[in-house]
Amino acid sequence: MMLHELSPAADAMSPAHVGEAPAAPPAVRIRPINPADVELERRFVEGLSARSRYLRLLSGRQLLPGELERWANIDPAREIALVALTGDGADEQEVGFAQCVVEDAAAGRWDFAIVIADRWQGHGLGRRLLAELVDAARAAGAATLSGITLAENRGMVALARRLGFAVRREDGDATLLRLETSLRS
Ligand SMILES: CC(C)(COP(=O)(O)OP(=O)(O)OC[C@H]1O[C@@H](n2cnc3c(N)ncnc32)[C@H](O)[C@@H]1OP(=O)(O)O)[C@@H](O)C(=O)NCCC(=O)NCCS
Repeated sequence: MMLHELSPAADAMSPAHVGEAPAAPPAVRIRPINPADVELERRFVEGLSARSRYLRLLSGRQLLPGELERWANIDPAREIALVALTGDGADEQEVGFAQCVVEDAAAGRWDFAIVIADRWQGHGLGRRLLAELVDAARAAGAATLSGITLAENRGMVALARRLGFAVRREDGDATLLRLETSLRS
């Protein structure tokens, strides 16, 4: 997969981030997740701020038992999950995760979700990761890629618009927006 030259947020100064900035901007690799990634994934999710977790899960809920394991053990016939990784060996870290799953097989509609590590947000990684997910979903035969986000999530709405997704209110819930793009020309 593609190798992306990106820098994490050098100005991220919340207590959790102080001292974490690497000496030189590391490269970010994007590849499909595999079951051996479950501990990387666990550290990534545990390192997310409460705000990012809330935006990703659309609520303040905790992860359900087995949810992480399911994210890492996908059914390739109906799911795609990509991880963004930096560092090597024992220093390897997950810094982004995007997934999509068949929601309506007859209509070819797949639903997606994405989350970027806090200190990497706002530096182009979400755009690159979601663009790769769009390409992978199209290659898998999806007709439509669709997702739900909280209406307050300006970052996700900006990212979706940037990649050409239509944004509309979700029927019956004013707090949610539906983000959707057609993958067929
Ligand atoms: C939403 C999220 C995935 C975006 O990823 P990101 O790496 O921060 O976004 P990028 O840096 O790639 O930015 C993409 C575009 O959105 C814009 N953008 C990003 N965050 C923004 C914000 N908070 N307000 C306004 N615009 C924003 C960027 O300027 C960029 O536009 P440009 O390409 O025209 O400059 C990321 O912030 C995140 O993980 N948030 C928490 C979890 C979440 O909200 N998940 C979505 C639920 S499905």
